[in-house]
Amino acid sequence: MATDDAMPARPMPRFPDGFLWGVSTSAHQIEGAAGLRGPSVWDAFTAEPGRVKDGSTADVACDHYHRYREDVALLADLGVDAYRFSVSWPRVDSPGGLDFYDRLVDALCAAGVRPVPTLFHWDLPAGLDWLERDTAARFAEYVSVVAGRLGDRVGKWITLNEPAEHTLLGHALGVHAPGRKLLFDALPAAHHQLLAHGLAVRALRAAGAADVGIANSHGPTWPASNDPADREAAEFYDLLLNRMFADPVLTGRYPEGLGDLMPGSPGEVAADLEIIGEPLDWYGVNYYAPTRVGAPQGAEIEFGGVTLPAELPFSVREIEGRPLTDFGWPVVPEGLTELLTGFRDRYGDRLPPVVITENGCSYEGLDDRDRIAYLDGHVRALHRAMEAGVDVRGYFVWSLLDNFEWAEGYARRFGLVHVDFTTLERTPKASYGWFRDLVRHGR
Ligand code: FCB
Repeated sequence: MATDDAMPARPMPRFPDGFLWGVSTSAHQIEGAAGLRGPSVWDAFTAEPGRVKDGSTADVACDHYHRYREDVALLADLGVDAYRFSVSWPRVDSPGGLDFYDRLVDALCAAGVRPVPTLFHWDLPAGLDWLERDTAARFAEYVSVVAGRLGDRVGKWITLNEPAEHTLLGHALGVHAPGRKLLFDALPAAHHQLLAHGLAVRALRAAGAADVGIANSHGPTWPASNDPADREAAEFYDLLLNRMFADPVLTGRYPEGLGDLMPGSPGEVAADLEIIGEPLDWYGVNYYAPTRVGAPQGAEIEFGGVTLPAELPFSVREIEGRPLTDFGWPVVPEGLTELLTGFRDRYGDRLPPVVITENGCSYEGLDDRDRIAYLDGHVRALHRAMEAGVDVRGYFVWSLLDNFEWAEGYARRFGLVHVDFTTLERTPKASYGWFRDLVRHGR
């Protein structure tokens, strides 16, 4: 790979010893082998015509289930310290399903790559429903089973991936599985996922885990103008997408007014918050871009592949003057510095060490200089947050492989490694070589 001339000229600042460099994936997006697991809500959603833009399914995806050895070799060659993958609950519920993760974890350990499993990355077993409180208890049972089997080799655990997106896209707007358009009636799905997180932390602790976190998606919210109506709308958006998921986990409280909207009596919600606020060893942040938000405009808005209904109390606007990824997301590295220093200011001592559990971009091509520029800018922005005193312990690129990008199908390529979805051949991109150099240098 053309690493030398692809490497931006400015020297990269040094990161502390022990800083964790890694890459991320998720089960539904890469594993395939759909016949060897039970169905998830994503299988049913994908089967509905028009739900996935290119009409594809994740039945084969990257066929990682059968090719995991090759993928572990790619990780070893990349030289990363850690690999964040997710465990598929419907696979674990199927005969022999846990054996796969057992083999994967063994292969990772043998390659000197630390396994970092996420226990839920959106592929809920068909028949379960986050609107039902009982799903949280079922999740904790499944977590105990996984921890019992893998806990001797896995130290670092992630309970949930992005309950905010799963609530918003899956339950409020209906563009992800399970495809519900409930708008604010989707809030129980948020509360039950948060409860599931807290119960999972307890289950992991009971199994002896000492390094537990969550992967929440966050981004700065920028008001469209100084107009009070825009500022108010932006604050509300920030409350829904950032604070609703960070406050209860980090402080054991919902932001003012939100707790009253959650299912259960005030006493029940308060009891749940005790569980949700179980102390964490670290806090995972998935960062892609900030959002510019203004007062509602009384019309539907097309944004990042999603149609936002007119009745929402905010509207999302373009961030102008920035390069856009193929997904149309603006490239704003300093948003990561702003986000992290803002978190430190907001949560103070309640914020445990942070790990960036996802950061990346979709671009076509093997000579992906745009991806290198994106990652380079974000790693530097991260370092600036550390210089400003934020305790950050790791950085994971989304993603190792091009994969099934949910409602976008295979049209969005986020990988450091290109996947030909006809032959399933893997080819490292220029960014793979760049990241390998960075990891080496970072040490
Ligand atoms: C995140 C998801 C991940 C992937 C990236 C692009 O929101 O966690 O699965 O889809 O976006």
